[in-house]
Amino acid sequence: MKYYELHENFWQQLEKQGHISWDREKKTELMSRSRNDEIMNFLGSRRSGSVLDLGCGSGSQSLYLSKLGFKCTGLDISSTAISIGKKLASDLNLEIELLCGDACSFDLKKTFDIITDSCLLHCIVTDIDRAHFYDCVKSHLDSNGRFFIYTMIRDGSPYLTGDRGDLHLDDDGILWSMGPDSFDVEWTEINGNKYFPHRRVLTEDAQRDELIKNGFVIEGEKVTKGEDGSSPLFIAWLKKV
Ligand SMILES: C[S@@+](CC[C@H](N)C(=O)[O-])C[C@H]1O[C@@H](n2cnc3c(N)ncnc32)[C@H](O)[C@@H]1O
Repeated sequence: MKYYELHENFWQQLEKQGHISWDREKKTELMSRSRNDEIMNFLGSRRSGSVLDLGCGSGSQSLYLSKLGFKCTGLDISSTAISIGKKLASDLNLEIELLCGDACSFDLKKTFDIITDSCLLHCIVTDIDRAHFYDCVKSHLDSNGRFFIYTMIRDGSPYLTGDRGDLHLDDDGILWSMGPDSFDVEWTEINGNKYFPHRRVLTEDAQRDELIKNGFVIEGEKVTKGEDGSSPLFIAWLKKV
């Protein structure tokens, strides 16, 4: 099993607790997320086109963009997230296509005007998986298309550098998490305990360099400060070279 398939376990727990989104929002809160404002800053007055929402979870970003007039397809590794999303779309009377699949290895045989990384990039940890992810984005992005990313980065914020025994951040920005033996993934031993690769949080410069090295041009960007123990974010609007 790949480490990122563990997201299905988390979605099953969310569903059991009655939650409908990764961030445990209520239905009424889904359309007023700060992430929506960030993508709107780049979309300007545009209200049409095709969107591929990668790591869509229960489809929050697709639901918002679909309401505005975009034709949205969402892809997530978790079948539970996809089924919650389908129900949400039907409740909200919005038509979006939701697919279960791996964002590091998929072929939808079409291209999109806009691809969004819906807080997925920091869930893809290894260099090779991230390179595969970027290749999939490029092969699905129209030549005039744009790629929106909204991803965690690191400065020295307490969440990532604090003394939490269940988390270990290494020098490459891999955040290792301690997990139960029942997790069927590749483990690394740290201080006698088993940790799995959980998140990748690059520095701002390393994130920018990685995007450029993987064939993207940065058209616009914003870096937020990590406040109250949360990590800073790298938000950007990109096109293919
Ligand atoms: C932080 S959550 C964000 C969910 C959603 N975009 C939102 O904004 O609420 C990251 C999502 O990425 C999904 N994910 C992780 N690895 C994935 C992969 N390789 N392919 C597709 N989805 C993946 C997880 O299942 C999870 O739903």
